Amino acid sequence: MTSSLTLEHQIEALREELRHHEHLYYVLDRPVLSDAEYDVLYNRLRALESAHPELITPDSPTQRVGGKPRDGFVKTPHSRPMLSLDNAYSEDDLRAWDTRLREALPSSEPVRYVCELKLDGLSLALLYASSSDGSAQLQRGVTRGDGTIGEDVTSNVRTIRSVPLSVSPSKLAAAGLPTSFEVRGEIVLPHAAFRKLNQDREAQGIAPAANPRNAAAGTIRTLEPNIVAQRRLDFYAYFLLHGNDMGAPSIPRSLRDGWENTQSGETLLASQSAALQSLRTAGFRVNTHATTVDSIDEVLVFIASAEGLRDSLGYDIDGVVIKVDSSAQQRRFGFTGKAPRWAIAYKFTARAAITQLQDVLFQVGRTGKLTPVAALTPVLVGGTTVSRATLHNADEIVRLGARIGDFVHVERGGDVIPKIVSVVEDVQHPRGNKDILFPTHCPECASALVRTEGEVDWRCINTNCPARLLEELLHFAARNAMNIEGLGEAVAQQLLEKGKVKSLADLYSLNDTDLFVLEHEVVRFNKKTGQEVKNMQSIFKSKGAQALLEEIEGSKIAPLNRVIFALGIRFVGERTAQILAAHFGSMKDLRDSSAEELEKINEVGPRIAQAVAEYFREPHNVELIDRLEMVPLIFSTEKRITTSTLAGLTFVLTGTLPTLTREAAKELIESAGGRVSGTVSKKTDYLVAGEDSGSKLDKARSLGVPVLDEPALHALLNPLK
Ligand code: IVH
Repeated sequence: MTSSLTLEHQIEALREELRHHEHLYYVLDRPVLSDAEYDVLYNRLRALESAHPELITPDSPTQRVGGKPRDGFVKTPHSRPMLSLDNAYSEDDLRAWDTRLREALPSSEPVRYVCELKLDGLSLALLYASSSDGSAQLQRGVTRGDGTIGEDVTSNVRTIRSVPLSVSPSKLAAAGLPTSFEVRGEIVLPHAAFRKLNQDREAQGIAPAANPRNAAAGTIRTLEPNIVAQRRLDFYAYFLLHGNDMGAPSIPRSLRDGWENTQSGETLLASQSAALQSLRTAGFRVNTHATTVDSIDEVLVFIASAEGLRDSLGYDIDGVVIKVDSSAQQRRFGFTGKAPRWAIAYKFTARAAITQLQDVLFQVGRTGKLTPVAALTPVLVGGTTVSRATLHNADEIVRLGARIGDFVHVERGGDVIPKIVSVVEDVQHPRGNKDILFPTHCPECASALVRTEGEVDWRCINTNCPARLLEELLHFAARNAMNIEGLGEAVAQQLLEKGKVKSLADLYSLNDTDLFVLEHEVVRFNKKTGQEVKNMQSIFKSKGAQALLEEIEGSKIAPLNRVIFALGIRFVGERTAQILAAHFGSMKDLRDSSAEELEKINEVGPRIAQAVAEYFREPHNVELIDRLEMVPLIFSTEKRITTSTLAGLTFVLTGTLPTLTREAAKELIESAGGRVSGTVSKKTDYLVAGEDSGSKLDKARSLGVPVLDEPALHALLNPLK
């Protein structure tokens, strides 16, 4: 008894520690542990839990990714309607709103406003209810839907690390919250995650998502919580409600008819600013840019600063939401049919414009991929002059039906690169008359372009193509690769132009005289003559050159996985590079491996395997690797110890196993070289089935796939025992 109690305490203490670090990392952006240190704690908890599955609690940090929603997403009524906001598009609109409010109050009564960023994502309601240990547990996450009925997306919401799975009694007390409450806020997909998603989609030949909001909306409705967990959605809380009628089977008529009274009567705290503070204390992510002000003039100042912030936030916003701070005043202002009178959304001017397509240029990327880029008549889009926009690929040009001379709609979305949305077809804008011709040869080195069957992109396959080298250099130096600060586009371009770098390996033999000859054009404006004066100026002063050389020197200690990633092998992202480094332990073994061997590694599919094998077959690459070894860069690492007992075998897990959790079973199989898949097919070698196995078991039987129970799995894993 005592020992199991201490074990329980030990496990709970570990969970608390992990929650604390998740909060620092995902909510406050202030991690104190490295990823590896976090993993050690996490794996320790996982090991303890898999040895004692009876002690697993639903709010354990290991339980974020759980079962899939069986029958899709169930429609669920909101406890109270999720309203929208009235919009303001100008200073006048805002002043008129402010005047209306003030006129409804006694003249001496002040109004304070809370200004918040208007996050461009999708709104979500989180319902928390009391648990036997006095904490509040996340019960449900529901999308907005039509405002009255949304969809229950709880299994996906649980994977969002900034959503607390539970709030402890002490945090509830500090935040002044009861054990049942409802939090509303916005799910957003940060730009970094959006870019990664589109890179992955591109690598798989799928059309990129149009913007982070669409990508977030698609993600939250994915039926595979595993995938949602990888997408790195984020949640910002901005609204707090009472939870006393939670779990209501439907919205009672009285509530629907009386939005004004019920909604306004539900606010938990005396003010919106207090609610935000309380949410923060309870462990929710609350946007740090919220500010309380005393006048509409100050609101305008906030809006101007928010517009200025827009490009550097790392997530999309489309305006500012202004709310009356005092809950008592909110109650007095009440609601119109669909929106509160006490709040308004100021919308930024659209980041879209119409301009003319002057020409299409073709750029060659690091992997030789040819990207058509539109040259546009410069136009202001959301405060930035745009003269280039991506056209993605040949198919996209066909889809748009664009011709040179056309007028086009240009938009700046979450990605900083502007894109052409459509061709303008109206009487004011005559159509262009010159077809866009896709080149047959590389515009840089003139070698014939190649399009592999089933792929959208055309490629230059000459590894010595100068255009590829520029991109390769930038990738090699990138922060998540060799992390060479100061090796940006201008420097890289000059290094190539001046012939100082002909291969990535040349970086390591640069000296300061090589750097002093690099120059860039500086344009000055002569005030007297009113003319522009162009001058060539050297890029580096002695300090700058020295700093870059030190950065290059410093990059020599980058571990093997980064070196592999930095090489820029097609389809080899950071994660794959890590897997390859851990599996082979040395560049030599990686380089000597065949596509067949590579394909046996977990998470390495045939496409990656082929790309890696091809890379090391190419003589220029072999020479590069030899030279990098002489630098020397780090070419070895510790091998992760895995066995190959189950190599080449595919397993599917179903039902509840007597001692192993799903995760633990998966890990055991994978560390023995096996693969775990989600669906039973003819290719499945074994189905591991526990209690309550459903359709998968039937399917396995009908296909003749052998079925194992847990002891049989152990026997397979340890054939010598
Ligand atoms: S408050 C009754 N605050 O904008 C109050 N909404 O146009 C309801 N939004 O549906 C919402 N950022 O999805 C609020 N800081 C913020 C917001 C915000 C984004 C979204 C929300 C809402 C829409 C209304």
